[in-house]
This record gives sequence, C-alpha cells and structure tokens, in this order.
Amino acid sequence: MPKAQKSGTATLQLPEKTVELPIYVGTEGERAIDIGALRKESGYITIDPGFVNSGACESDITFVDGEKGILRHRGYDIEELAENCLFLEVAYLLVHGKLPNRSEMQSFSRLMNRNSMLHEDMINFFNNYPEGAHPMAVLSAMVVSLSSFYPEIERESEGADLDMTVTRLLSKLRTIAAFSYKKSIGEPFVYPSHKFTYCENFLNMMFSSPVNDYRPDPLAVRALNLFLVLHADHEQNCSTSVVRFVGSAGSNLYASIAAAICALWGPLHGGANEAVIKMLEQIRQEGGNVARVIERAKSRDTSFRLMGFGHRVYKTYDPRAKIAKRACRQLLDKMGMGGDPLLEIAMELEERALKDDYFVSRHLYPNVDFYTGIAYRAMGIPTSMFTVLFALGRLPGWIAHWLEQHGGEVKKIGRPRQVYTGPVRRAFVPLDERE
Ligand code: ACO
Repeated sequence: MPKAQKSGTATLQLPEKTVELPIYVGTEGERAIDIGALRKESGYITIDPGFVNSGACESDITFVDGEKGILRHRGYDIEELAENCLFLEVAYLLVHGKLPNRSEMQSFSRLMNRNSMLHEDMINFFNNYPEGAHPMAVLSAMVVSLSSFYPEIERESEGADLDMTVTRLLSKLRTIAAFSYKKSIGEPFVYPSHKFTYCENFLNMMFSSPVNDYRPDPLAVRALNLFLVLHADHEQNCSTSVVRFVGSAGSNLYASIAAAICALWGPLHGGANEAVIKMLEQIRQEGGNVARVIERAKSRDTSFRLMGFGHRVYKTYDPRAKIAKRACRQLLDKMGMGGDPLLEIAMELEERALKDDYFVSRHLYPNVDFYTGIAYRAMGIPTSMFTVLFALGRLPGWIAHWLEQHGGEVKKIGRPRQVYTGPVRRAFVPLDERE
C-alpha cells in the first residue's frame, strides 16, 4: 500500500497469537486494514466470497460512496461530467487523468478518426458467425483478435505509443460493435466516416444502409453520449476487476478487455439492461400486473430478481440511475413516446418497490441499467445491443485501470487463496477394483 496514508494499526486477536496489522487511509477517508502479511505472520488467511469486503488495489481513477450516492471520476462529480462533457472528454479524463484542453481534444478526435476502420481481413471474421450470433460474443472475439492484427501492442505499452494503442481500441470497438449488429441482421457494413462525431458515427454505422440515407437524430446522439458517459467507469466492478486480474498475469490490453467484455455480458452485471427490457416486456404481455412481479422477486421459492434493481456498492439511489431516469423521460417526451407502456411499468415497479419493506430494508434501488434500456429501445437500438453499448461506454474505464495497474509499482499476479473443504487424503483405488 505505498500511496495511501498509514494511520495506525489494527490488533487482531487470534486463538494462538495477537497480530498487528497496518491501517491505511485513502484521500476520501476510506479505511483499509492491510492483511498482506497475515498468513506469513499467523498461518491464517481471510475469506470473503464475492470480495464483498476486500480491496484489491489502490486506485486514483474513480471514487464511489455507496452510502451517500456519490460517484466521481478523477475528482469530478458524475453529475457535472454528464451535464457538460462529450464522451470522448470523459474517456480522455479517465485514461490521461485530466480533462483535455481544446487542442488536446482536437488531436484526440483526429486520432480517433484515423483509427476507426478495421483491417479488411478482420471483416471476413464477421461473415463466419452463425445468423443470430450474440453481438457480445462477436465483440469479445474481435477485440482479442486485434492483438494479432496489431502485435506491436507488446512494445506499444509505453508512452506515446501507448496512446496509439488506447485510441485504436477506443475507436475500433465502436466500429466492431456496429458491424456485429449489421452482421446479425444480414445488412452490409457501413464504414465509419470522418464527417461524424463519435456518437453520430456509431448511429450512422448502425442505421444507415444502401437504401436508407440515415441522418443521426440529434436527440439520439445526445442521449447516447450521456449514457456512454454514465457508464464510463465504476471502480472495481466485476468486469473491471477482470481487466486487472487478466492484466496482472501480464496479458496484453486487448486480451484483458476481451475478458472484461465476457464478464460484462452476465445478467447480474452489464447484461442486466437487456434483462430489464425482457422483464418489462414479459410483465406487459402478462397483463401488466406489477404487484405480482414484486411478490415474485421477494419470494424465496424462486431465483427471480427484479432486474435493474440492487447494487453491491450503492445502498442509496444510484446517482447514474437518477440521471438516466430523467434523460429517458425527457427523450421519450421529445420523441412523442411519453406514454410508452414499458416506461409506465418501470415507474410503477420502482414506486412499489421503494415503498416495500423487502426492498427498503435491503437498500435495493434502481441501478443504472433500469432506465437505459427503455431509452435505447426508443432510439431503435435492438435489445441484443444494449450490453454492447455498455461495453462501449465502459471501455475507457477498463483501459484506465489496465494502464494504472500496468504502470503501477505494485506488480502482483492476482491469485486468491481458498479454504479447502474436499476429501482429506485417501488411498488410490486401481480402475478394476473400483465399485
Ligand atoms: N431483486 C430482489 N431481491 C434482490 C435483488 C433484486 N434485484 N437484489 C438483491 N436482492 C436481495 C437478495 O436476494 C438478498 O436478500 P437476502 O438478504 O434475503 O438473501 C439481498 O437483497 C442482498 O442481495 P445480494 O445478492 O447479497 O447482493 P449483492 O451485492 O451480492 O448483489 C446485485 C448485487 C448482483 C446487483 C443484485 O442486487 C442483483 O442481482 N440485481 C439484479 C441484477 C442487476 O440489476 N444487475 C446490475 C447491477 S449494476 C451493474 O452491473 C451496472
């Protein structure tokens, strides 16, 4: 723990001995007991399934206070970033540690444009996926494939060259994402264009076709920009921890991000935005009985959970969900879809859950995924692309964490321990003598 301030010691009383463990305090007053030497000194390990209470690293990137509902990137409140920034500015902030000035922003955008195309040989890969392949499967495979098209990643891991790798990935992921959608619907790929901004380019690659001269709708562009900003980073969440874990083995940036995409896919993580819409659709098809769904989510007899509700860290309203809810409402109103039945169901679910003792006592609030899917749906984005958009948004955060770990002083491979509970030593039985 070289950066956090040392602040006294904790005394751990074990049956055999007493151990003194250093306490460290972060810049926002978070306290941690350093147990790194515990096993060496006492023979004990700690156990914490799901890492509910374990810090795996120090980080300068993002601060979350789950009790107060605070989220800051590099010291800036998410509310201010969401109100004022382009996604690329936030990406720059996360990766470089500072907001870009105008000339830095211009050269970043230029570099993004210059790197937006895929190698033509990569395009053949898309054609060999079966119809209906989930875009998340395609996305992760394509990202890890980048490491074979750009093997210089191994030496581009430092200084200015690293900027190139980072920008290449940020720019190409957007193209891969749009191509994976076009492949899934059997339409020709639409190439990126220098005349568009980051979000316009993505929407154009998604919706333009030889027979449809699509113009990106400024409302959709603004909403997409906002949702990407809201997803840009969230400290040591599941997929970001995967980036650090894979990266800790010395794996390259592309390999680490591909693994994170797979982690994000799960319905308990980024896949929740897709699961929310499926849940809301089902409620609507079954007659809109919201009270029954709430009872089902509370029941111990089923594994059903209210998707888009609850969060490991937030024990109050997720600040991103507040912004997303407002933006979703505004977008639908402006698009003349204010009476969207899924939005009505979502709002009723939220209202009932927030009055129900089950949800109140467990501090379960809507998370960022609860309302984003409704907005994406209104923008014409298919459900299977929701988690892909989450990945696009989260990419700068993943990159920033990979870089922080890569450039940091603590270089330890991620390797937790376990408490073994299997059989104790037993005699081997040859094949013919086994029952
Ligand atoms: N619906 C119903 N009950 C829930 C929900 C939910 N969405 N979430 C948690 N609970 C209950 C649990 O059953 C448990 O109850 P118990 O104490 O009686 O056993 C209690 O609340 C605590 O839940 P845990 O699973 O221990 O909480 P954890 O922090 O491990 O999980 C998670 C957080 C995975 C987000 C969980 O709330 C969940 O499954 N939510 C639904 C999926 C979802 O929306 N995921 C997106 C997360 S945000 C993101 O990745 C961007």
